[in-house]
Amino acid sequence: MKMPDALDKVLLDEETIAARVRKLAAQISADYAGIDELVLIGVLKGAFIFLADLARHLTVTHCVDFIALSSYTRSAISRGAVRLIMDTRASVTDRHVLIVEDIVDTGFTLDYLLRNFRARKPASLHTCTLLSKPDRRQVNVPIDYLGFEISDVWVVGYGLDYNDRFRTLPYIAALKQQAHG
Ligand code: PRP
Repeated sequence: MKMPDALDKVLLDEETIAARVRKLAAQISADYAGIDELVLIGVLKGAFIFLADLARHLTVTHCVDFIALSSYTRSAISRGAVRLIMDTRASVTDRHVLIVEDIVDTGFTLDYLLRNFRARKPASLHTCTLLSKPDRRQVNVPIDYLGFEISDVWVVGYGLDYNDRFRTLPYIAALKQQAHG
């Protein structure tokens, strides 16, 4: 398949992602072995593909729920402000919760989620992200399960977008600099 013109190069190909996702799923399954049920909370929209692949490799009993946020982390006027636009369907009180993100950038979103979920008194609360950009971090957040650390380039594919495009590419690619200014 030809790569879209706006993309610079593939950073993580399909096989590399799949192998890492399988390893993460094995690690999570081992760590949670013996619990009744793990609640995976996917953060929309970006995490939907990672969550779908990760969940299908888990051997621990689990269920899937979603949360949607609107972040303004790229806007200078409301730095770090995060707004909840769709909450989970089920309560997480006394349940084992794993927040599943596609990427941790500044950390504001995950920081908001951790504070928000802690207040709901889950039995346990951990985090999993496919990608992390440590160079961009503005607030320290604990990442319990990490797929890949990447440098500060705009990446798309495998759930990640640029203006809502490129989410369904099977690989993760860097966007050309001129495509996002
Ligand atoms: C992305 C990503 C994380 C957040 C991380 O979401 O899915 O939720 O940004 O950034 P942060 O660490 O700087 O807070 P985005 O706002 O792009 O929405 P989307 O997932 O719907 O594309």
